[in-house]
Amino acid sequence: MAIHKILVTGANGQLGWELAQAAVDFPKFEFVFVDRNAMDLSNPAELKGIIALFAPDAIINTAAYTAVDKAETETELAHTINAEAVAELARIALQKNIPFITYSTDYVFNGNATSPYLPETQLAPVNYYGKTKADGEQMALAENPSTIVIRTSWVFSSHGNNFVKTMMRLMKERDALNIVGDQKGRPTYAKDLALASIKMLEAINKGQELKGIYHYANTGETTWFDFALKIKAIAGLDCNLTSITSDQFPTPAKRPMYSVLDTRKIEIDLGIQIPHWETALQQCIDMLANA
Ligand SMILES: NC(=O)c1ccc[n+]([C@@H]2O[C@H](COP(=O)([O-])OP(=O)(O)OC[C@H]3O[C@@H](n4cnc5c(N)ncnc54)[C@H](OP(=O)(O)O)[C@@H]3O)[C@@H](O)[C@H]2O)c1
Repeated sequence: MAIHKILVTGANGQLGWELAQAAVDFPKFEFVFVDRNAMDLSNPAELKGIIALFAPDAIINTAAYTAVDKAETETELAHTINAEAVAELARIALQKNIPFITYSTDYVFNGNATSPYLPETQLAPVNYYGKTKADGEQMALAENPSTIVIRTSWVFSSHGNNFVKTMMRLMKERDALNIVGDQKGRPTYAKDLALASIKMLEAINKGQELKGIYHYANTGETTWFDFALKIKAIAGLDCNLTSITSDQFPTPAKRPMYSVLDTRKIEIDLGIQIPHWETALQQCIDMLANA
């Protein structure tokens, strides 16, 4: 069955919002966006009835419990939203025989690697949020092996809460900032990830069989400190930045030291070239400047 109507959860999040912006360029699809009020993932038992009302041909689940530090204590709610609800969505998609895309994180890995993580690298979540996302992946794939899980990292957008917007605000407010410089990863512009997600559904419509775990992040790797330096340069801000170690910036949830994702599988399967994170950052800051 060809995909026409796509149900997108998490309408007010970074990725949900970017999908809504991208949707206008894909008039062959009818997108339906639902926020937490219309579809609350903390109540998985209600999902089936709500989805039946929309009768979608595909589901993209961008909704998630993303408060990484708070997840260390709000464990039950984080697990319900990131694991049990995701498994239920996968089950519903299987029953309806429709594609299901959901998202996971670099935090499913322990951060001890020295070369990019492959989709099949063994999971060893570094914190409780990472554990809920790892459980969500595994439970969804066990329920429905056709589930598509896209792991991503260091997501930013002109909409929502993220490192880019926080840095720009703080650099305007303060004369100096300390930024962690010993964690390495790949920033991801939610706009680019949104486009790749829609391309997946286009490829499925053309008969390509896509399922299982994928990685998506912008190309190039950096540290939070170098990321902040680039934000400062592009936005033309004046603030003294100092690189500090993770030990000097303790957080309730541990962060991985190395979380570079290998994205070759999605590039090959979709035939796409992923933009460099600096190009993506420039676009995002331009978007903020024009807002
Ligand atoms: N942000 C990152 O750096 C990052 C990194 C790696 C992976 N990811 C993953 O990428 C995906 C997209 O993330 P994002 O950056 O777009 O996240 P986000 O901006 O934090 O958005 C998450 C959305 O989920 C919604 N939500 C939270 N609890 C909900 C519930 N009980 N029912 C329904 N909706 C609920 C939130 O609603 P409200 O607006 O009402 O709060 C929010 O709109 C997620 O799976 C996330 O885990 C993100």
